[in-house]
Amino acid sequence: MSRQTEVVLNFKKSKGIIDPKLYGHFSEHIGGVFYDGLWVGEDSKVPNIRGFRKALVESFQKIAPPVLRWPGGCFAETYDWRDGIGPREQRPLRANWWYSHDHRLEPNAVGTHEFMDFCRMVGAEPYVAANMTSLTPLDIRNWMEYCNFPAGSTTLAKQRGENGDPEPFNVKYWGIGNENWGGGGQMTPEENIWEFKRYSTICNSLDKGQYHFIMCGANGHDVEWTRRIMKEWASSRWHEAPVWGMSVHYYCGTAGWPQDFTEDQWYQQLFQADFMRRIVDDHRAAMDEFDPERKIKLVVDEWGCWHKDGSGPSKGYNLFEQQSSMRDAMVAAMTLNLFNNRCDVVGMANVAQLCNNLHSLYLAGGEHFVETPNYHVFDMFQGHKGGRQIDTSTDALYLEREGFAPLQTLSVSASEKDGAVTLTIANLDMSQAQEVKLIPVGKKLGNKAEMITLRHDDVHACNTFEEPFAVVPSRTEIAFEKEACVTVPAAGIAALRIR
Ligand code: AHR
Repeated sequence: MSRQTEVVLNFKKSKGIIDPKLYGHFSEHIGGVFYDGLWVGEDSKVPNIRGFRKALVESFQKIAPPVLRWPGGCFAETYDWRDGIGPREQRPLRANWWYSHDHRLEPNAVGTHEFMDFCRMVGAEPYVAANMTSLTPLDIRNWMEYCNFPAGSTTLAKQRGENGDPEPFNVKYWGIGNENWGGGGQMTPEENIWEFKRYSTICNSLDKGQYHFIMCGANGHDVEWTRRIMKEWASSRWHEAPVWGMSVHYYCGTAGWPQDFTEDQWYQQLFQADFMRRIVDDHRAAMDEFDPERKIKLVVDEWGCWHKDGSGPSKGYNLFEQQSSMRDAMVAAMTLNLFNNRCDVVGMANVAQLCNNLHSLYLAGGEHFVETPNYHVFDMFQGHKGGRQIDTSTDALYLEREGFAPLQTLSVSASEKDGAVTLTIANLDMSQAQEVKLIPVGKKLGNKAEMITLRHDDVHACNTFEEPFAVVPSRTEIAFEKEACVTVPAAGIAALRIR
């Protein structure tokens, strides 16, 4: 049984260009993200490129990551960048921020040079999250000088050269602090501002206007945090302490277990994911009260599902590692559709986290490596990056749930670029396919399309080391006749490229 639905693509209305940075990523030194995840070491039997897992590098290259945040997260708040430079065998072993959670030690095998090397390999811009809690502003300024000053120009630039990279890394995005309302010092908004001003003023004195500083924003829907910070910003505009972006973190929690959830929990999770709409709209509205020209960008630099621990292949050894099913893929698709449709509101977004952790694109360990369904969503949505967003609307059924805004059973976004239209449709309905009629306004649609579909008979299905290709997309060529119609399977995600 299927439902008839219409999707209107109004080419006359657009929110602007979809910045590729809405498709950003996050990699923290936590659990298994780096060690035995991204990083296996140069001497490993696991095929690697200068220490990084080759299969992962090659897969990541394919989805052209625009930006990668590092080294935390909470980890950043006790990280001293000087531990991660120089000969690897001489680097210190540290009890990092997460020590009290998992009692694992940080070997510092991956430091600034390795991370920049990884970014270069995969073509991502580095976004460095600097420690605002336990290092001084001068320490961070020195890190910036170390990364960015011309070859041989200063003692720190020379040191960088001696450590293997004479040419600067040109790191533009610098986060100052992380979750300063929580693990980053339990600050009030005012305390956070005070600290941010100190740090960014000192760091900005290196090279005015070159750096994009991202200040720690709210926890989830704490709009008051945003308002108090923006009020203070508007009172003086902090001329010596420029702000490029303000972050917000929103994890849409869990409902049931990653691979064991009821139909009701399927929808509960999707309602929680859809709450991202309120997160971005309400924070932006609070920012607009003080910054109507939108000089400061909203940066969602951590997002994803946060399930209960232990469902990943390491069975709980890797902190926060979780499996990802079609439900997580659905959350990814809804969230990316939302960001496309709010490309005038969100300046950057980073899914948390890349490997062996929350909402990951990859699971890995030893010789094993798999792409999760989340990875396939990022791959399928690639056509939107840099495209001009096209307004869409649908008459799809609304679901209701107490405490949440009504949720339509189709999540849609569209964009155009290089003479092709990319249209992504996620069918939230767990049991019914939707026959979607496309109605263009202001332009004709071509009659040929490539359609990629991600679905599985069992919504709990996921990719494991034993069965790495259980959930993979399928591709078909479509020729539209009189009308442009496509069928999106129940709990399925479709990406169309219409020429
Ligand atoms: O992504 C895991 C953790 O979640 C991050 O370190 C922290 O910023 C957030 O609380």
